[in-house]
Amino acid sequence: MLSHVRSLPPRRLIPPLLLLVIASLLLGLYNFGSNSWLQGIKFHDIIQFDQRPAPDSFVPRATMPAKAKGSAPLQGLDTEALRRNFPKLKEATKRHSGPHKARLDQMMISYLPFISTSAWMLHSPKGKKFTVSEVQAISNSTIQPGFQVPNIAHFVMPFGETNLQFHHMVSLLSCLHIMKPHRLLLWYAPGKLPSGQWWDRVRKNLTESEWEEKIIFVQRPIPTSVYTVPVHGKEHQSDVMRLEAVLVFGGLYMDIDVLVLKPLEPLRKFPFTIGREVPYGLCNGVFLSAPSGTFLAMWHTAYQVFFDGSWVDHSVWLPNTMQPIFPDLCHVEEESMDRPNWTPEEVSWIYVKGQQSRWDWRSKNYVMHLWFRKYGKQHNMDSIKTLDSMFGEMCRFILFGVF
Ligand SMILES: *[C@@H]1O[C@H](CO)[C@@H](O)[C@H](O)[C@H]1NC(C)=O
Ligand SMILES: *[C@@H]1O[C@H](CO)[C@@H](O)[C@H](O)[C@H]1NC(C)=O
Repeated sequence: MLSHVRSLPPRRLIPPLLLLVIASLLLGLYNFGSNSWLQGIKFHDIIQFDQRPAPDSFVPRATMPAKAKGSAPLQGLDTEALRRNFPKLKEATKRHSGPHKARLDQMMISYLPFISTSAWMLHSPKGKKFTVSEVQAISNSTIQPGFQVPNIAHFVMPFGETNLQFHHMVSLLSCLHIMKPHRLLLWYAPGKLPSGQWWDRVRKNLTESEWEEKIIFVQRPIPTSVYTVPVHGKEHQSDVMRLEAVLVFGGLYMDIDVLVLKPLEPLRKFPFTIGREVPYGLCNGVFLSAPSGTFLAMWHTAYQVFFDGSWVDHSVWLPNTMQPIFPDLCHVEEESMDRPNWTPEEVSWIYVKGQQSRWDWRSKNYVMHLWFRKYGKQHNMDSIKTLDSMFGEMCRFILFGVF
C-alpha cells in the first residue's frame, strides 16, 4: 500500500492521517488470522472463489462480486475434490508449517487457492499485449486428446543477477529444441529482463519471427507475501511464482539449471508429475501440471501456513508428504528428473571427470537437474567441446547434437 503513495500530504493533515493509519493497523491486527487476506482485495483480481464450506473449515463469507469483470478464473478447477481433500491436506501440512502449526486452523481457512493476476503483464518480444485468458486459451489449445498437460513451458528468469550464465543458455535451448514447447513463457520481475552474451545467444538462436511467435514474456512483481504470510528469500519467492505460473496456465516449469534430454510427451499424460530427489523429498525445481491441477492447487493452498524460515518444508518435503495421501493426483518419476541428486556422491557423477559411467543419462533421464551451485565453474562454446564429464556430454548433446 505505502508504495502507492506518490507524494506527502500537507502537514496539517498528518495527525488525522496518523490516527487513521493506527486505526487501520489495529483493525488489521484484529482481522489477522481470520480472513484478513480476503479483505481489501478487489474481487475482479480474485482468480477463484467459492463459498461452500469445507467439511472441517470454512471459506470466509465475503460478498461475491456482482460481475467478475476481467476475472481470469482457474479454468476447470475441481472445487469438489479440493473441498473433500482439505482436511487431509491440512493434516499433511501440519508438520511442515513450523511455528504456524499451533494456529493452523485459524490460518489455513480456504480450500481454494487464491491468486491475484492483476499486476501481471503478458507481452510478446515486440510488445504485443495479451490477457491472462488469451494465454490460457492458447495453452489450452495445445492439449491434444489423451494428454492433460499443455505443451508450454515456463522459466522464472533470475531476478538477482540478470546476466545469464553459459548453463542457463544450454537450459533454455534444451527446452526449445528438445521439448519443443508451443509457447515458452519467460517470467521476470519489473526491470529484470535477462541480459548478457549468453542471453543474446539464445535470442539469436531463433529468427525474429520465430521468437515473436514462440516467446511470451510475463512481468509480475516479486511476491513478498503469500496469503497472510511473508516471503523473503529469493528462492521462496521464486517458488511462489512457479506454482502460480503453472497453476494458471499449466505446462512444464523448469529451473534454469535443468536440462531437457528427451521429449516429454509421456509425462504430459499425467495430471501432475514431479521427480524424486531423495527418499524424503520431491523437488519443485521441475514439474508438470494440467492447468488448475488439483495437486498443484492443494500445494498452493498449503502456503496459507508457509514458513519462510525453513529451506525445504513447503518446497520439497510437503509434496512428498502429500503424494502418498493423494497418489492418483501426483505421478512421481523416481529417477528420470532429479537424479543424480545433490548429495556429494551423486553430484560428482555429473561433474567429476571420468564418472560418466556411473549413471546412464541417455536412457534414464527426461530432464536432468544440474544442482549447478554445487559446481559453479563457467564454460563457453570452446571449453565445452572437450569437457570430460557427464555435464560436458549433455551440453554437447544439446548444443551440437552429439549423442
Ligand atoms: C480447453 O480444451 C478442452 C479440449 O482440449 C476443451 O474441452 C475446453 O472447452 C477448453 N477450455 C477452454 C476454456 O478453452
Ligand atoms: C540453436 O540451438 C540449437 C541447439 O543448441 C542448435 O543445434 C542450432 O544450431 C542453433 N541455431 C542457431 C541458428 O544458432
